Amino acid sequence: MTALYDIRDLTVDLYTRSAAVRVVDGVNLSVAAGECLAIVGESGSGKTVMSFAPIGLMPEGVSVGLTGGVRLAGADLLAGGEAALARLRGREVAVIFQDPMTALNPARRIGRQIAEVCTLHLGLKGAAAEARALELMRLVGISDPEARMRQYPHELSGGLCQRVVIAMAIAAEPKLLIADEPTTALDVTVQAQILDLLRDLRARMGMAMILITHDIGVVANAADRVAVMYAGRLAEVGPVDQVLRQPTHPYTRALIDAIPRPEDPVGSPFRGLPGMPPQLAGPIRGCAFAPRCPRATPGCTALRPPMRGIAGGAGWQAACHHLTTATVPKGAAA
Ligand SMILES: Nc1ncnc2c1ncn2[C@@H]1O[C@H](COP(=O)(O)OP(=O)(O)OP(=O)(O)O)[C@@H](O)[C@H]1O
Ligand SMILES: [Mg+2]
Repeated sequence: MTALYDIRDLTVDLYTRSAAVRVVDGVNLSVAAGECLAIVGESGSGKTVMSFAPIGLMPEGVSVGLTGGVRLAGADLLAGGEAALARLRGREVAVIFQDPMTALNPARRIGRQIAEVCTLHLGLKGAAAEARALELMRLVGISDPEARMRQYPHELSGGLCQRVVIAMAIAAEPKLLIADEPTTALDVTVQAQILDLLRDLRARMGMAMILITHDIGVVANAADRVAVMYAGRLAEVGPVDQVLRQPTHPYTRALIDAIPRPEDPVGSPFRGLPGMPPQLAGPIRGCAFAPRCPRATPGCTALRPPMRGIAGGAGWQAACHHLTTATVPKGAAA
């Protein structure tokens, strides 16, 4: 597989006045052209920082140290500095966030906002920018776009606003779309419509997507592969079908077991994961999940488990000392 987007040994440190915190710790990941990779993990596990820091969208209010390699369509993203990344964003890689309102200007008509993006990224002006804005509104399923384009964001529902944001994100037909919880703020039925729209656009444009989500149901329906993050590290990555059906990492297993099931009696307690994620302020010895892991043995806290290939799925890997020899192919690097 030739990767469209490739992250090697990515480490992100945040420096506050009192501490240095490693929030992304040695992550390797790749996304193929047209593929949808979901990123899951508990709050604070580093999903957002890992996805946005490599394209120059850094957490605010802290200094950031980033090491590793990041390539998009073969180009080294870290070689050209912030100016080069800024040119890339919106053109080669676009982003959408949870709350569409934060991405829109409340004081400007939506048609104008979409047209401005067409001017910025495509150099279109006047009637040409407006025509492209209309075309994009149709593409994202906004009915009666001629009337809608004269409206302000507050006149639109949350779902329609997210369609406007998606129209702006795909204006320059980026190769990669990074979507951070794009449906979390929306009603359930609207969530499904937006996920359908994203799937449809990906297929039409051959666009790859990184989809950050808390929702394993979304992973199952929308993604080709899934990466499970814990404390800034990857616990498991692989094809969605295999990982969800036969999770090999105890953390992946615990995440799946925590999903409420339809047969659960009404009012049954939420099956959350026992314990808390580790404090990231100090170095983590051994496996980060060991203190909460039902399978942990003394060796788990001594040595960090490497990612090892799992038999039965292309690119399926997990980082656990307890992977059995049956799951790890013979001769796999330890
Ligand atoms: N601006 C910031 N200042 C200080 N610490 C930050 C900042 N942004 C993120 N962090 C820290 O970095 C770590 C990773 O945060 P990140 O936002 O990537 O997590 P996440 O997995 O996206 O969580 P969530 O599911 O809640 O969005 C957390 O420990 C968080 O506290
Ligand atoms: Mg986040």
